Amino acid sequence: MKQLWGSRFSKALDSKVNDFNSSLSFDCKLYKYDIEGSMAHTKMLSDTGIITAYEKDKIVNALNEILDEIENGKVEFDNSYEDIHTNIEKLLIEKIGDTGKKVHTSRSRNDQVALDIRMYLKNEIKSIIKSLILLIEVLLNISKDHTDTIMPGYTHLQRAQSVTFAHHLGAYVEMFKRDIERLDDTYKRVNVLPLGACALAGTPHPIDREVAAKYLGFNDVSLNSIDAVSDRDFVIETLSALSIIMMHLSRISEEIILWASFEFKFIELDDSYSTGSSIMPQKKNPDIAELTRGKTGRVYGDLITLLTVMKSLPLAYNKDMQEDKEPLFDAVETVLACLSIMPSMLSAMTIKKDNMLKAVKEGFLNATDVADYLVKKEVAFRDAHEISGKIVSYCIKENKTIEELDMETLKTFSKLFTDDIYKAINPTASVNSKKALGGPSVGNTVQVIKINEEWVKDKKNQLEKM
Ligand code: ARG
Repeated sequence: MKQLWGSRFSKALDSKVNDFNSSLSFDCKLYKYDIEGSMAHTKMLSDTGIITAYEKDKIVNALNEILDEIENGKVEFDNSYEDIHTNIEKLLIEKIGDTGKKVHTSRSRNDQVALDIRMYLKNEIKSIIKSLILLIEVLLNISKDHTDTIMPGYTHLQRAQSVTFAHHLGAYVEMFKRDIERLDDTYKRVNVLPLGACALAGTPHPIDREVAAKYLGFNDVSLNSIDAVSDRDFVIETLSALSIIMMHLSRISEEIILWASFEFKFIELDDSYSTGSSIMPQKKNPDIAELTRGKTGRVYGDLITLLTVMKSLPLAYNKDMQEDKEPLFDAVETVLACLSIMPSMLSAMTIKKDNMLKAVKEGFLNATDVADYLVKKEVAFRDAHEISGKIVSYCIKENKTIEELDMETLKTFSKLFTDDIYKAINPTASVNSKKALGGPSVGNTVQVIKINEEWVKDKKNQLEKM
């Protein structure tokens, strides 16, 4: 078998070396982009008179046929050709002979592979944004039903102050919005055409890169041929954005796991999203949330892999860079898999309002409200904090809650207490007193949900134009 680059060599590649060198097993995924890229390149070669229109038609038709054959399972790739690029070029030459050999004019696999990954990513980034939008929509929908569902807010995983379930979920909405923005921004740098950089030093033929960019829907054309073939920043940026998405998914997963436990009992997962134990009949395990949490490590690993592959690489292309694809594909597929299941798992869970409220009633979540009450009566916050602390300590000793103390007892801590204290320390009143934008009051939450629904609408419109 003669390699496309074989003429300089007097010996065939050792078969173990061939396998070691090959990327076909994973880059075959890029066949569609590779063919589309070749078609656009061919049209540009004809537009600029580098090949004839007749040759262009022959190549483009054959490429279309190859695409069709691959999609219908009629092609078996040949592992002795090291990657998808050489495989498709070989198929093309088999089909149309010498004309097929012209497709690689003014091109190298170095700019070709950079192009293919960029095309792949443009598509996948859009899918990930779509999935994130769906997740946000589900969070907003659940939130709408729970703007007044009181639950404990935590710091240090200790009950801290009352919030609402909608407000708590709203925190995740903000996280996933930022994730979309990060992907949007990354997309701008993915959307740059590297084609025309060739091996590293461009081409002496009169190519028109803008034309190729237009055929392929790229916004910009790279400005340095060395950078175009040696840059994988856009992959690393995507992997960073994906890692942050997984970090967010791992946090919501962790909370689902906690909330579903007997200790919390804030939610119950639907049976169709839980698994049982092979030995303990009572178990209902939150495997999906746990797996999502676990897969976070895997995506971080993908990011670290590529950062390390690229570290200290001299310019321009090096074969090390072939190692970019597996971690990228793995991270994209993992994130999409997690995102495909999270929204429906959330929609299907039962929210146990009563248990959330019960948890609010234990743990002195209204101690800060007591202090704030005194501040309104012109006590300095530090002193008010001290008074409230003493009340908590008294309650712990007496095994009582603050609202159970009578006025006489309260007055022993401060003369300023009057009957309105009981309203001030009621969890609903407390939540609704936090009226500044960003706070948990029902009014705010309703307003923020509306703002976010508008945000989602705008993003959907933007996505259509991407
Ligand atoms: N299979 C290679 C990769 O994925 C394609 C580029 C090869 N270029 C080369 N000069 N050997 O990186």
